[in-house]
Amino acid sequence: MSTETLEKVTTTTEVDFLPLNGTDHIEFYVGNAKQSAYYYQSAWGYELIAYAGPETGVRDRASYVLKQGKIVLVLTSSILPDSEIAQHHAKHGDGVKVLALWVDDARKSYEATTSRGAKGEMEPQVFTDEHGEVVISAIQTYGETIHKFVERRNYKGTFMPGFMPKKSLMTIKPVGLKHVDHCVGNVELGRMNDWVKFYEDVMGFKLLLTFDDKDISTEYTALMSKVVSNGNGYVKFPINEPAEGKKKSQIEEYIEFYKGAGCQHIAVATDDIITTVGELRARGIEFLYVPDTYYDEVWNRVGHINEDMEAIKRLNILVDRDEEGYLLQLFTKPVQDRPTVFYEIIQRCGAKSFGKGNFKALFESIEREQELRGNL
Ligand code: FE2
Repeated sequence: MSTETLEKVTTTTEVDFLPLNGTDHIEFYVGNAKQSAYYYQSAWGYELIAYAGPETGVRDRASYVLKQGKIVLVLTSSILPDSEIAQHHAKHGDGVKVLALWVDDARKSYEATTSRGAKGEMEPQVFTDEHGEVVISAIQTYGETIHKFVERRNYKGTFMPGFMPKKSLMTIKPVGLKHVDHCVGNVELGRMNDWVKFYEDVMGFKLLLTFDDKDISTEYTALMSKVVSNGNGYVKFPINEPAEGKKKSQIEEYIEFYKGAGCQHIAVATDDIITTVGELRARGIEFLYVPDTYYDEVWNRVGHINEDMEAIKRLNILVDRDEEGYLLQLFTKPVQDRPTVFYEIIQRCGAKSFGKGNFKALFESIEREQELRGNL
């Protein structure tokens, strides 16, 4: 009898009030979307699929939509001097404005989150063209970043109404990127728990992992991090905040240059990190460097892996293991002049964690970069 009660209780409390199908797209506001689009096509192997701008009747901006695997990036620039996009770019530099989530019902998503305390950014709006309709709503999250809820079950077009299909003018060579693994937010000192609570209470996410300053500290700097995940685990948002250290942490550097909280990195998944990173390096993408001494100890720490260990070392890829398996990962340097957004390339071989065993080596690497920038 008690079992039945327990089951009933569990079922009631575990109703996911915000079911998400995954990441729909990530929109960057950038200084020159045309040139950024070229970079993502030529270096990262994304295919150009759609465009919006003056030619499609949009008067204030130009947006390029790029795709690789399930990853969709939208690169948007203002074409006016004083628009909201121009102001955002002047303040933050190139950065992530929208983390869009794919839902079955954008109206319900808006209602479910705003009724739980989310600040609305855009009430549900229906966009239509000859291919059907897309419903979009949006709420605010940390800094000036927003979450859009995108409902596209009644849409058959390339991206969404307002965009025209546009193809790459060059031959695209994909590098094997499959999907977004996680998107990390940096928030101000003392605000991490508020934002974790936001994702728990307002969006129904669950706390997955906690890292404190003992896990993530070097001789000089420290940070704290908590990872929240939605019900089906398709969407994971680690949230970082700076912690007290002898010198300025990478999170403080980010916040100083981004002028507030924002998206720090996007982790993109591959099934073959050796090929992906080999290609990206050949095309000039800059990665963080870990010294050769890292590989003196790493194989003792992680044990056997199926990949070519020599190639892993040659490409400077990092390795970590948890109870469920191992993972291979590597981080780029910031992808714009401000020390803000960067990418992580990740290959998961069973592991569901985030590479805690690499934190120390990584943060020392980031500190070397910070020092070169005069920001440590
Ligand atoms: Fe990450």
